[in-house]
Amino acid sequence: MIEVRSDERLFHLATEHTSYIIEIASGVVPTLRYWGPRIGTPEAAGPHGEMPYRVHASASLGALQLEGLALEYGTQGEGDFRRPAVSARDGAGYPVTTPVYRGYRVHSGKPELDGLPSARLTAETGADTLELELIDEAAGLLIVLNYTVHADWDVIARHARLENTGTEPLSVERFMSASVDLPARPVDTVTLSGSWGSERHLARSPLGPGIFATESTRGTSSHVANPFIALAVQDTGEDRGEVHAATLVYSGNFLAEVDASLEEFHRMSLGINPSGFSWHLEPGESLTSPEAILVYSREGLDGMSRRFHRTIQEGIVPKQWARAERPVLLNSWEAQYFDITEGNFLSLSDTAAELGVELAVLDDGWFGERDGDDSSLGDWYENTEKLPSGVDGLAEYVHARGLGFGLWVEPEMISPASKLYEEHPDWCLHIPGHPHGTAATLGRNQLVLDLTREDVQDRLIGTFSRLFARAGLDYVKWDMNRYLAPIASAALPPERRGEAAHRYVLGLYRVLAELRDRFPTVLFESCAGGGGRFDAGMLAYMPQTWTSDNTDAVSRLYIQYGTSMVYPPVTMGAHVSAAPNHQLDRNTPVATRAAVAMSANFGFEMDLRKLPSEEREILRGAIAFYRRHRQLIQQGRFLRLESPFEGNRAAWMFTGDAAAGGAAPGDAPDPTAGLARAEGSADALVFVFRVLIGMSPDEAPVRLRGLDPEAVYEVYVAGPRFACEAPPVATAGGDELCTRGLEPALPRGDYASAVYCLYRRADTP
Ligand code: GLA
Repeated sequence: MIEVRSDERLFHLATEHTSYIIEIASGVVPTLRYWGPRIGTPEAAGPHGEMPYRVHASASLGALQLEGLALEYGTQGEGDFRRPAVSARDGAGYPVTTPVYRGYRVHSGKPELDGLPSARLTAETGADTLELELIDEAAGLLIVLNYTVHADWDVIARHARLENTGTEPLSVERFMSASVDLPARPVDTVTLSGSWGSERHLARSPLGPGIFATESTRGTSSHVANPFIALAVQDTGEDRGEVHAATLVYSGNFLAEVDASLEEFHRMSLGINPSGFSWHLEPGESLTSPEAILVYSREGLDGMSRRFHRTIQEGIVPKQWARAERPVLLNSWEAQYFDITEGNFLSLSDTAAELGVELAVLDDGWFGERDGDDSSLGDWYENTEKLPSGVDGLAEYVHARGLGFGLWVEPEMISPASKLYEEHPDWCLHIPGHPHGTAATLGRNQLVLDLTREDVQDRLIGTFSRLFARAGLDYVKWDMNRYLAPIASAALPPERRGEAAHRYVLGLYRVLAELRDRFPTVLFESCAGGGGRFDAGMLAYMPQTWTSDNTDAVSRLYIQYGTSMVYPPVTMGAHVSAAPNHQLDRNTPVATRAAVAMSANFGFEMDLRKLPSEEREILRGAIAFYRRHRQLIQQGRFLRLESPFEGNRAAWMFTGDAAAGGAAPGDAPDPTAGLARAEGSADALVFVFRVLIGMSPDEAPVRLRGLDPEAVYEVYVAGPRFACEAPPVATAGGDELCTRGLEPALPRGDYASAVYCLYRRADTP
């Protein structure tokens, strides 16, 4: 809901639980009056106080002291010295300083963002948009700030559009999607950081004075940072405390920053990373920022994640996948690496089918002369020595066994040893005639295609449309295995060279949009050396992402826990792999490996044929268990109970959530029968993991959440083979399970786990 009080120039953006109130100070400058729990009728502020030694803006900006205001979209040069939302220079090289409020518009739904993905906040879903126009007449820069309010999902989406309304070109040097000035309080910054194999670890620290930033300059959102930032009041926990958070629907160089240089405000902003960026805007041209999704929660980090999860699941992933069940898959990578032969892959698929797997994916090594990572990217035709029946023959065989068929590709890359490179040596990102002779850099022996070029984009669309159509694929893993360096396109004119990073992402989005629309039934999973591009931008085209190349179950506790801050479990590819683990050599029990992987989008990458029969039966049980409860895991509500970052245990649970689809109430196991007859999904699933065993007991009760306090639940433990055996280990009220907790019975030893199914008793209210 958007309430406008135009007399006082007050705009109230109301979601179900939040209010975001913008006031146009002195009729010229948009300021943030309030962002917090929903309030009734907002009041305009009184006169603004002044401070000595502050600069007064020019008369056109009301001679205000801008530093004393909570600006909605700051610029520098008129007395605000904080990090600006936008900086641009006019034709004469002078900074653009004076965007003045010109007017507003309210309309239902949301405009499409030019060439960029964004959340489907449409008129049908009840969304409204407020547009505020700011203009710097002298420089000829129009800024349109867009705020789309989605009442039910409790989110506000923001983006900005710049338009050159003058007669001279403008040069844009910094362009944020959103900037908010919050009243300063003792807060922690919450971000996700990591590296290859340890992506999206939760990072939380008290915000001190100065600038705090998390960012990527690597061309992708990266393993190192994630386009997400939250400010949490310092005692905020999972279910209590205030959080202001934002994530970007963007996959390239980003900056998420807090400017705490002034005592009164914390300026939180997100947008395209200004490092290395500039954009040449000719008269009449415009530039649109990526979208930022803003969330306020007074129910702690859980309230924040719930809103992000819902928006991503219902509003960002392609519509046809929002509620579709995701198959249990087998991926050949850690099972066979480059050692691919038709016989090998098919016999592995047979074993997988026999265990209940639903989709077989042929990873790297199937094309060109690719026997290692040093050749053939660009040559997207099968190697018929390895695969005499070709990709089509494989697909046919696999389909005949009732499995779906998937293929790995890495379209954005080119190997110097490839036919494509012989044909187009200049198609990679490079600096021609560089004095040191480093025309381009190698990473994993490969170069990056210059996706700023339309001819390169067209070639990818053509090549992959043919491949995907021909092979009758059900699934594609779209990989991207190095960062962009140098981010330089020889095809751009000199004044546009600073546009390369953003243009790369726009080019990629064009290719992805085309392929997504041409192949609506193909399930795409994105990947970038594991989770190097796990962001809402990629999820708009590909509804799941390979979370990390690190498949070690213990490492995954941290990675999946951190990732869940923003992204729902259904978006995280998670596979059971061999023990000892190939990345860390750690041995973990097979049941724990299965429990960790089934807490997300379940699959396997191991040679299932080599398993001892006892382990094979455990995995058969795990697959059946996941398939029975997958509605709850993939569509239900995910609640973090205990953080691996804070102790020696991790715990989480899934509950049905009517609003988010949730699980249908299932049939509880029959307590009189020996083995459970749990044919329906449970009403809640609880997963508990121990890291290292110690002498002191670590089996303190785990406090559950999200249960009906009035209801009585029967709690069954999923036995050694993932079957819930009767009788229940406990029968307790939802209130008791949430306050006293559930006492886990973890097997002895390191890396132990326990999984519980909760069934609500039919005779409870
Ligand atoms: C990347 C991916 C892996 C695998 C290999 C293949 O590292 O993250 O899952 O596909 O490439 O080369």
